[in-house]
Amino acid sequence: MISVFDSAVMLGDTVTESTRTFAHKPFKLEQHVERLYKSLKVTRINPGMTRDEMIALSLRVLEANLHLLGPEDDCWLVHNISRGLSVAGADPTVQRSPATIIIFTSPMILTDWARFYVEGCHAVTPPSRAMPAQALDARIKNRSRMAYTLAEIEVKLVDPKAQGILLDVHGNIAENKGGNFFIVADGMLKTPVTSNALAGISRATVIELAADLGVPVRECDLQPYDVYTCDEAFFTSTPYCIMPATRFNGLPVGDGLVGDVTKRLLAAWSTRVGVDIVGQAMRQLGPQP
Ligand SMILES: Cc1ncc(COP(=O)(O)O)c(C=O)c1O
Repeated sequence: MISVFDSAVMLGDTVTESTRTFAHKPFKLEQHVERLYKSLKVTRINPGMTRDEMIALSLRVLEANLHLLGPEDDCWLVHNISRGLSVAGADPTVQRSPATIIIFTSPMILTDWARFYVEGCHAVTPPSRAMPAQALDARIKNRSRMAYTLAEIEVKLVDPKAQGILLDVHGNIAENKGGNFFIVADGMLKTPVTSNALAGISRATVIELAADLGVPVRECDLQPYDVYTCDEAFFTSTPYCIMPATRFNGLPVGDGLVGDVTKRLLAAWSTRVGVDIVGQAMRQLGPQP
């Protein structure tokens, strides 16, 4: 049960994390919980438990639900933590109840993204801009998602299958509603800095894998021009890991095909976790003609 007066419902006053499993094992759970505790600190929500207790509780939730998964399936492990009860007009500095701790699993359904591994997706910039960090720091992973939701609706008006790339108020590439963005240009990976984007754990994983593959990475401001003229582009996020983008605002990215660096990074990620990431998603689509 959750109260209708919970600040999650009343205010979207909730911090969050989404971890996924590979072969039923949580991937980088410690890093997700570390980021969660940074979000909790900055938002001044007291979860009433230590990081280690949060990890232990999360593992218990996962364990209790693993029997629901098929041997080749994986799941989300999601944390939503709100400030607790919030009656109308309540003073947020007065915690009226313990924080509400929600931890759940749900099946990792990849069907909406599966074809993008082979065809790439269409990345589109909506007219609405990313919330400036001066209003809400993008590094706080939170559930106040109205701005992202409205931007994504604008993107779907252009192309129902497109994936959004929000620009910040200065016109620099920021991020997707649930993912970070990379391009390959001049023989290196380039990705926006985290002053206007979440410090994604998949983003960090790509940076680690690129180092292993000897591909240089630069964190810098990027404008739409850089995406129009780059060789490859992709999104990163916990569920799909790496999602190639082969069109940007209607123009082909590079030669319009999923690029070599993107494929090598996906293969390296699969090797690292012992799961064929593309294969797992394609299997969910069923037999293909
Ligand atoms: C706004 C936003 N950007 C980026 C990401 C990607 O972060 P991660 O790679 O940690 O899943 C997310 C994840 O949900 C997100 O909500």
